[in-house]
Amino acid sequence: MSRYVLDHRLEGEKKRLALMSQLLDPMHRRQIESLGISHEARVLEVGCGNASMSAWMAEHIAPEGQIVALDLDLSLVDNVRAPSVEFRQGDIVTGPVDPGGFDFVTARAVLHHVADAEAAIGNLVANLRPGGAILLIEPDLLPVSVAEPIEMRTFWSGWLAWSRERGIDYHIGRTLAPRLAAYGLKEIEGTAETAIYNGGSRWADYWRETITELRGDLVQSGKLNDALVDAFLAQCADPNWWTQTIAFTAVHASAPGS
Ligand SMILES: C[S@@+](CC[C@H](N)C(=O)[O-])C[C@H]1O[C@@H](n2cnc3c(N)ncnc32)[C@H](O)[C@@H]1O
Repeated sequence: MSRYVLDHRLEGEKKRLALMSQLLDPMHRRQIESLGISHEARVLEVGCGNASMSAWMAEHIAPEGQIVALDLDLSLVDNVRAPSVEFRQGDIVTGPVDPGGFDFVTARAVLHHVADAEAAIGNLVANLRPGGAILLIEPDLLPVSVAEPIEMRTFWSGWLAWSRERGIDYHIGRTLAPRLAAYGLKEIEGTAETAIYNGGSRWADYWRETITELRGDLVQSGKLNDALVDAFLAQCADPNWWTQTIAFTAVHASAPGS
């Protein structure tokens, strides 16, 4: 069974996922709209979180099809917003949901948390029907390597060291295209988007929530200390501090045949 560091029972996780939906759903929607998915498609979202994207796809992308949403933990799903979505509790590392059973498969901000990302990607791909499309969106923390002031670079470097120790791969974004190519997928294309934000903005709130939620573990790991965490939180409250966040890497591809 896969372990997920940002447990849904952690205080603040519901709010953090809601912020993720606000920040990332617009990009995810644009990417999906560009793929021309059929209204009758059978769609799979893996690692659906609060299911904001599955709910939206049920209404706007495949209203005459079917949406299946998988997550290790469905406790934060907003059922009210997603009445027609079929939810399944499960682990993408252990196997595909329905081999060859989906016209479109998507996952966002999931694979970087999965210790065996290779198995997870293989299982995501195995769900595709011939000619089916896949869209993966994952982070690449490249922009934080040039964050300013220097203290913030030190903070991010400690964060990356902590995440490596916890089995989180914050540079997985750049590996998506070659990995999909290795599975024989075609028409592989991708883009990476970063946000420029200042203290007090929604992105700053997102990071404040995330760091606060994980503070105990971050400090205990020895990769960060209270002074660096406090310095980061202070920047997140300062409207004069401008910086760049994760480059969210979106890669789509098609299964051969149709
Ligand atoms: C960072 S959240 C992202 C949620 C949502 N996709 C979003 O972008 O807002 C990661 C989600 O993936 C789920 N998850 C992590 N590992 C998983 C696995 N091996 N199989 C299925 N779901 C998994 C977690 O439970 C969590 O809901």
